[in-house]
Amino acid sequence: MHEIKDIGNRKLRKPIAVGIVGSGPISTERHIPGFQKLRRETRIEAVCDMNENLAKKTADQFGIPRSFGTLSEMLKSCDLDIVDVCVPPRAHKAVANQAMESGCHVLVEKPIAISEAECDEMIRASEKYGVKLSVVHNQIFYPPYVKAQELVNSGKVGKFAGMRVINFTHQKGYLKNMNHWIHKLPGGVVEESGPHAIYMSLPFIGRVHDISATPTKILSYPWVSFDTCSIDLKGANGSSSIIISHAGDYFATEVDLFGTKGMIRLDLQSMLLDVQQRRSLEYTTLATTSIKTSVRMGTGVLSNAVSSMLGKSFLGHDVIIQRFVDCVRDDSPPPVSLEEAKETTRVMEKISSLCAQFSLEASRPRASLSHNSSLPLVQNGMSPHEPPIDSKHGE
Ligand SMILES: NC(=O)c1ccc[n+]([C@@H]2O[C@H](COP(=O)([O-])OP(=O)(O)OC[C@H]3O[C@@H](n4cnc5c(N)ncnc54)[C@H](O)[C@@H]3O)[C@@H](O)[C@H]2O)c1
Repeated sequence: MHEIKDIGNRKLRKPIAVGIVGSGPISTERHIPGFQKLRRETRIEAVCDMNENLAKKTADQFGIPRSFGTLSEMLKSCDLDIVDVCVPPRAHKAVANQAMESGCHVLVEKPIAISEAECDEMIRASEKYGVKLSVVHNQIFYPPYVKAQELVNSGKVGKFAGMRVINFTHQKGYLKNMNHWIHKLPGGVVEESGPHAIYMSLPFIGRVHDISATPTKILSYPWVSFDTCSIDLKGANGSSSIIISHAGDYFATEVDLFGTKGMIRLDLQSMLLDVQQRRSLEYTTLATTSIKTSVRMGTGVLSNAVSSMLGKSFLGHDVIIQRFVDCVRDDSPPPVSLEEAKETTRVMEKISSLCAQFSLEASRPRASLSHNSSLPLVQNGMSPHEPPIDSKHGE
C-alpha cells in the first residue's frame, strides 16, 4: 500500500511507485536491481515490454507485481510516480513523452534522444507537465572520473590542455548480431558507445564548436559499414580525441587528461587513476615515477579485487537511480542536467550524420571501399577533398 505525500504542488506515493519500460539486459542487469536496492524508498509496481512474454518473465524473476505489453496499458492500470525508460534509443522520446504527459517523472537510458530536436521536445514536455527528466550518463559518476575532475579543477596538472578517450566494446554483443537495432541507427555502433565518450569530454572541454569524424571498417561483417571511428572535438576549453571501436574481442574504457604540469590516466573498467608528473628522463626519475605508478596501481587493483569478490563493485547506475529518486522526492536538480543531455545529443547527432555520410559513400560503386578503408569527414558534411566552410565555428 502506498501513502500519498505532497511534494510542492505534486503528490508522491510512499514508497515511490516505479514502472519500468523495457526488459532487455540494461533493465534486468542495472535498472531493476538499482531500484530494488532502494526498497525503503521505492517499489517497482510494474514492468512493460512490447515482448509481453519477456515482461512477464522479468516480473516473475524480480517479484514485480504486474507486467504489460504496452506502456499505455501500464499507465492506465497503475498509479506511477517514476517511469524508467530502458528501450532502444529510437523509442526514447515517444515513451518518455507519453509517460510525462501522464504526470510521471522520467529517467531515460542514454542517449536521451537521437536528435537535438527530439531532446527539445522532451525538455518542453518536462516543463509543461512539471516533472523531472534525466538521463543515465553513468560513467561520470565513476569514482576515478569524479576524482580526476577534482584534480583538474584544483590545478594539480596545471592548465588543462586536452584529453583522449578510448572506448572499445567487444564485438559479440552488438557487431556480430546483424539484427541488432544499433545497425539501424544512422551512426551505427558509434551511436551506441559514442555518447559515453562525449558526455565524459564535455565537463573538461566545454561547449563543442568543431567536430570531425573518421569512420573505419576493420572487420568484414557485410551488414556493417564501419566498426571503428576516430572523433575530434574542439571545445571552448580544449579538445578531445576519441576512438570508438566495436571491432575488438575485449572491452576498454580509458581517459587521459593532459595538463601543463602533468597528466591523469584513468582506466574506468578497472576503476584506476594514475597521476604522472615526470619532470625529467633521468634514470632515477624514471625509476621513481614507475615505482609510484606501480604502487598506485597495485593498491587500486587489490581494493577493486576485494570489492568484486565481496560483490560490491561500483555501479554508476546505482548512483544515478538513487540521485534521481532523491531529486523527485526533494524537488532538487536531477543527477544529469538537461543542458548536458542536450549538448551530448547535439554533438552525437553531428557525428552520426558524418558516419551516415561515410556509409553512403561506401555503398557507392565509385567508392567501393575495401573493408579496411577509411575516409576522414568534417562536420559540415563536405567531402574531405573540399575545404570545410568555416569549420572553426562549427554548426
Ligand atoms: N548506460 C549504459 O552503460 C548502457 C549499456 C547498455 C545499453 N544502454 C542503453 O539502454 C537502452 C536499452 O538497451 P538494451 O541493450 O537493454 O536493449 P534491448 O533491445 O536488448 O532491450 C530493449 C527492450 O525494450 C523493448 N522495447 C522496445 N521498444 C519498446 C516500446 N516502445 N515499449 C515497450 N518495450 C519496448 C524490446 O522488446 C526489448 O526487450 C538503449 O538506449 C541503450 O543505449 C546503456
